[in-house]
Amino acid sequence: MTELTHIVSALLAHGKGILAADESDSTCAKRFDTYGIEKTEDMRRTWRELLFGTPNVAKGLSGIILYDETLRQKASTGEPFPEFLSKRGILSGIKVDQKTESLAGSPEEEVTKGLEGLQDRLTEYGRLGATFTKWRAVIRIGEGIPTEQCLRENGKRLALYAKACQNAGLVPIAEPEVLLEGTHTLARSEEVLTKTLAVMFEEMKKAEVSLSEMILKSSMALPGKESPQQGSGQAGEKASLKEIAEATLRAFAASVPREMPGIVFLSGGQTPLEATERLNEIVKEAKKQELPWRITFSYSRALQEPVLKAWSGKTENVTTAQETFEKRVEETARASEGRYSH
Ligand code: G3H
Repeated sequence: MTELTHIVSALLAHGKGILAADESDSTCAKRFDTYGIEKTEDMRRTWRELLFGTPNVAKGLSGIILYDETLRQKASTGEPFPEFLSKRGILSGIKVDQKTESLAGSPEEEVTKGLEGLQDRLTEYGRLGATFTKWRAVIRIGEGIPTEQCLRENGKRLALYAKACQNAGLVPIAEPEVLLEGTHTLARSEEVLTKTLAVMFEEMKKAEVSLSEMILKSSMALPGKESPQQGSGQAGEKASLKEIAEATLRAFAASVPREMPGIVFLSGGQTPLEATERLNEIVKEAKKQELPWRITFSYSRALQEPVLKAWSGKTENVTTAQETFEKRVEETARASEGRYSH
């Protein structure tokens, strides 16, 4: 086992998943605004410490993806967060992609930036205690999109990113997020997911990325947020848990190499309950089909939203918020084994 496969196995440990707490300052500000929470560096630090210091979460969390600011901050114990987490048996990861830019010739589509200066940033992040990283590309479904060019350019950048991480001794989590926004059907989402992953893995092969030393972070195949299949249409039209699980796994079976060790899901705007029930169904179905990958979660919103609401920036709410988080982690971890029931 190499050092990197060792980290991969720890991240994909049974009964555990990953918390994404890597919201940029501006994304964090939007979430804080919902509950009137002050948008200061210290409130972001306090919020992250509330999450990371919740009793028992290490039972269900193998790793946490941090944002640059958080990786450099200290808990109130005086320990830098990577050390604070490591003492609790949780690995620290870091988001390394930067902003997006419009795709030349197709302004509705985006490509992710962040390759410039990446090698130096990776070296520093490793020194600060990160063992894994994440890069997110955004794929939008709409009239005539995504284009092949968008999938190819994002796939190439994801592959260069993954290769650079492995060279720096860090495990890459490659996340081509197919967005939920839109009116598309479940079948269209499956088709786009299949193509997105196929193109990305072609680029991974060309760049000679070691597949056993990386993790895929994927969307589920889902009907668009404004699709009648979300439940707003006629009775019987709503996509069932089983249909979603089967469509997602068909996309994976068609495009994810079998030597990939694991797939973690983003929640992408699903409610906490939807994200949990769907993960549970996908894992159960994957076991039935004897698919080779460990499948688990790497949620941000589906784990954090009810906790942020319970906290609302008030010291007197910390205990209740932590109880909410402990329960969310426990339920989602159970779903990652296909053992969740509502
Ligand atoms: O890049 C997206 C995050 O890592 C996952 O966030 O679960 O809210 O989609 P989400």
